[in-house]
Amino acid sequence: MITINLPLIGEEEIQAVVKVMRSGYLTSGLGAGPEVTKFESQFAKFASAKHAIAVNTGTAALHAAVAAAGVKAGDEVILPSFTFVATAEAVVLAGGKPVFTDIDAETYNLSPRQVEKSITEKTKVILPVDLYGLSADMAPIREIADKHGLKVVEDAAQAHGLNYRGKPAGSFADAACWSLYASKNMTTGEGGVVTTNDDQTADTVRMVRTHGEKAKYASEMLGCNYRMSEIQAAIGSVQLERLPSFLEKRTQNAQQLTEILSKSAKLCLPAEPKDGKHNWYLYTVRLHRGSEAQRNKLLKELHQKGIGAEAYYVNPVHQMPYYVNNFGAAKLPETEKAANQVFSLPIHPGVSAEQVEFIGNTVLQLLSEI
Ligand SMILES: Cc1ncc(COP(=O)(O)O)c(C=O)c1O
Repeated sequence: MITINLPLIGEEEIQAVVKVMRSGYLTSGLGAGPEVTKFESQFAKFASAKHAIAVNTGTAALHAAVAAAGVKAGDEVILPSFTFVATAEAVVLAGGKPVFTDIDAETYNLSPRQVEKSITEKTKVILPVDLYGLSADMAPIREIADKHGLKVVEDAAQAHGLNYRGKPAGSFADAACWSLYASKNMTTGEGGVVTTNDDQTADTVRMVRTHGEKAKYASEMLGCNYRMSEIQAAIGSVQLERLPSFLEKRTQNAQQLTEILSKSAKLCLPAEPKDGKHNWYLYTVRLHRGSEAQRNKLLKELHQKGIGAEAYYVNPVHQMPYYVNNFGAAKLPETEKAANQVFSLPIHPGVSAEQVEFIGNTVLQLLSEI
């Protein structure tokens, strides 16, 4: 099976882990041992941010950043429903209410026009997601936030290597939250990072990371154990160095696939608006005017041919039982339509040019039978 994603771990990562294991220094009580500190400084440079705070998952990064944005009981946070559930979890964990808002039909990202409509007196934060590795439309979102005195926390879990108006993810936000989960463009197995230019936000995220402490056993706020281990950070430093080569291969694969798939009128290919450069975390197409049943049948047939195509995300968060039961039903037409029609094809750096050709031609053949 050509899997939809695959972590690329080499001898360098293995040796980095062995070195940490031999050192005997596996983690730091206050969250920043030598490997974590080194990784944070490399990541801050990569993201053009003043601070990078490494944590143990992207979910933890989101929760810490939403809490640091001051969200508390009764506050509303505007976010897409067309995302991984962790985006919404972070809001609820901080005590806030998720206000699910519709997406743009072409980019699948939060629609700035819809964001305006979702704002109430209780709104505190806008939480856009850079879905599939394409930046949300951050400039208008920043403008809306400034007009209403709101903070912007960006879910950059899928954003490593994208750029928006020539800048990395997080450049238009108060804080950005990255995931280093095994499927991502770079990985530490599990892991996450918060980047920010704001000293106060960085201090608070550091405190949330380790039990609300600045000094041991003196909690100043509610925190958690969100620390990244030295082992994860050592892997992260190597992966960050390899990231440019991973991105290059993803881009090559995406271009090759686009050339093949553009022969079919039945698919909408991934959009690349003038402001955004994709990092090709996921190559996501849409079955033009297709039904959910047709999309699912196509996925099944692709699996039978050894192609691990997947649909992200078949259940938008606003329709999940927990969110319906606690926050009520919502109607998001573009989100619901996209959830029925999209599917992603493998283009990770482990996929060869021959495999891309096989994937593209197989999709074309199956489409001709619809
Ligand atoms: C959009 C999005 N947000 C949040 C997360 C959560 O990250 P993690 O799995 O590292 O907790 C992920 C990744 O899994 C994601 O894709």
